[in-house]
Amino acid sequence: MADLRETSTPARLSPPRVRLPKLIQGVGFAFFRRKAMRSWIKRHGRIFEINVPFFGRSIVVSDPALVRSVCTASAEQMSNVQPNLGNWFGPGSVFGLDDGTHRDRRRLLAPAFHGQSLKSYEDVIVGETLRECANWPQGQELRMLEPMNRITLNVILRTIFGADRPELEELRALIPPYMKLGQLMAFVPAPPSWTGRPGPWGRLDKLRTAFDRIVCTLVAHAEADPGLGERTDVVAFLVRRGYGDEAGIPPMDLCDELLTLICAGHETTASALAWTFERLRRHPDVLEELVTEVDAGGSAFRRATIVESLRVRTVIDVAGRRVRAPSADLGDVRIPHGRTVLIRIADLHENPEIYPHPERFDPHRFRGTRAVAPTWLAFGGGARRCIGADFAIAEMDVVLRTVLQNFSIQTDAAADEKSHFRGIAHTPKLGGRVTVNRRK
Ligand code: HEM
Repeated sequence: MADLRETSTPARLSPPRVRLPKLIQGVGFAFFRRKAMRSWIKRHGRIFEINVPFFGRSIVVSDPALVRSVCTASAEQMSNVQPNLGNWFGPGSVFGLDDGTHRDRRRLLAPAFHGQSLKSYEDVIVGETLRECANWPQGQELRMLEPMNRITLNVILRTIFGADRPELEELRALIPPYMKLGQLMAFVPAPPSWTGRPGPWGRLDKLRTAFDRIVCTLVAHAEADPGLGERTDVVAFLVRRGYGDEAGIPPMDLCDELLTLICAGHETTASALAWTFERLRRHPDVLEELVTEVDAGGSAFRRATIVESLRVRTVIDVAGRRVRAPSADLGDVRIPHGRTVLIRIADLHENPEIYPHPERFDPHRFRGTRAVAPTWLAFGGGARRCIGADFAIAEMDVVLRTVLQNFSIQTDAAADEKSHFRGIAHTPKLGGRVTVNRRK
């Protein structure tokens, strides 16, 4: 069992280091990550050190026991990675918080994305899916990524703001360009005097100002809504909790947090859905079993398919932490204070010792078993595990069910789509192309 604790005894081993110039390592990490990681793992094993721009000297881990140690480390041992997505969404985002404020924020938000709340979103997910697929062309190839993005964006907007109001139309236009640019710039430090200047940071700033204006209008509507007590959306819940006492969200954090939930909560799920359709096109046996189950009203195999899809095509391939204690031991390796630790989720998912023939798409691996950390880590792990994990699985389940109830998907032996890295998420390079026909 790996051992991670704060210690003052003399150093144990240092992790093996990738000995290439920082720039080359950075290019490998940014543009050829899968290939680079595979070759570094082959050479150095499942814990080694790289040195890359933005994260600096970073320990890359994909051994399950060591990953477990990182995930279960206390907040005193490991804090959030720097830089993190708080740079993009703002300091009031859960991504940017640590310690007690992070814990309290998660406690505040969690009920909206678990348990009974999920059930109440089902009608919205079905409605948005049916609306989106009403005009799908039949008998010709269709990229699933964009329709899935529209469905998941609409679903998260309705989950957060409730009824469809005209302001949501403005957000539907604003969020996609904000996402596209923001993902690319998320870890790039802004020059000191960028506000109001032309260029990518200026564009992001403009979009952000427009977002805040729209959100303030929607929050003001919620505050004045006589039916606020009956509403089940996230804003209504936050407004009811109030901003003043300790249990509520500080007003200056509200826009950062809502932006976080919207951005983190839709493209990831859309990418995972697009990958699932990409896989189903090439696996007629899985598709047939799924359709038979849908028609019989079941869901167990569909759940297993979603879990396997998230494994075999990992959407977020890295989760990061930073050593906060004076040092931390991972197995027999000692990591000094301040070092970044990167959990390589994709390499964990592709480990043949955990998953025999890991390249095979085989939902039966997960039939009747629970996918659990540290061997299945699509949503990360520990105190920073994805807040929307249950929500995302439930949404994927309902979208997949609704599509399969209404459409048949043509299967063939097309070559696998390659992966395209958008800056945060990995999507199918051709958008997850499938040909559908409406079922009689
Ligand atoms: C298939 C879809 C999704 C995937 C693959 C995914 C993946 C992840 C991963 C890997 C992390 C980092 C966890 C860690 O550091 O250990 C994360 C964090 C997060 N995710 Fe998701 N996510 C998805 C959907 C969602 C949804 C639907 C929401 C919101 C409704 C959401 C909100 C968040 C937030 C707020 C965090 C930050 C948690 C924290 O720092 O405490 N995600 N997600």
